[in-house]
Amino acid sequence: MKIIKDKNTLHKEILKNNGISFIPTMGGLHKGHVSLIKHSKKSKLKILVSIFINPKQFNKKSDFMSYPRNTKKDIKLLKKLKINYLYMPSFKDIYGFKPKNKIFLDNASKKLCGKFRKGHFEGVLNVVNRFIEIIKPKYIYLGKKDYQQLYLIKKHIEKKKIKSKIIECKTIRENNGVACSSRNLNLDKNQMKIASNIFFYLSNLKKKIKKNYNLLNINKIKKELINLGADKIDYLENYNIKSFKKVKKSNEKFNIFFAYYIKNTRLIDNI
Ligand code: PAF
Repeated sequence: MKIIKDKNTLHKEILKNNGISFIPTMGGLHKGHVSLIKHSKKSKLKILVSIFINPKQFNKKSDFMSYPRNTKKDIKLLKKLKINYLYMPSFKDIYGFKPKNKIFLDNASKKLCGKFRKGHFEGVLNVVNRFIEIIKPKYIYLGKKDYQQLYLIKKHIEKKKIKSKIIECKTIRENNGVACSSRNLNLDKNQMKIASNIFFYLSNLKKKIKKNYNLLNINKIKKELINLGADKIDYLENYNIKSFKKVKKSNEKFNIFFAYYIKNTRLIDNI
């Protein structure tokens, strides 16, 4: 595995290859990332993972500062997984040039996390757009846990007629049901139990709602999440997973999207 810190060196290395499979990350690697990497191996292309904690997608400095960082452990894991390149750029390497494409922000960016984390998706699209221009990956692997992010990146790629293809990968969960996330590293045992209880409550409820849509009572569900130990709920809403619009008919394919806090840790998921 070659560790590369600047795009000039990166270009010299990757141009030799016949396409790249790219997994963008902010480090704090977990089973979800491992699954994306394993998935990317099927492409038979060289695999490039990036670790860059993008300050522009954090709306609070404190959130940026407390984002889990464990580079040594991450590098060890990536070596074990035998990826080809690890790109760990500086801020200047990423933001020191003018990208050809402007970002396209679909209207779906105004909902859910977009409402509660001002500027978050502009920040995500900004960095992903730059990564795409630097790496020109054939495939980009993204998880469905961050479904709104995945949706918006796909819309940007579609609108700007970018050749990279997004490969959507299923959400990987801990044995206790909680979606794998770098932020889980900030949870203690008791808090993890709360997150697990919330997951099981919502996934059982979703099964019932699918049979009887009238059971979907958002305010009642939010109250139950607080009873289960959530300290604050940013949102809990259901959307059609194809159109990202409000569900009108009970036979539509929808997911329940939610974001909540346990103490200072913000968790998101969709079921
Ligand atoms: O999902 C993430 O880890 C980040 O939002 C991403 C896609 C690496 C962009 O910084």
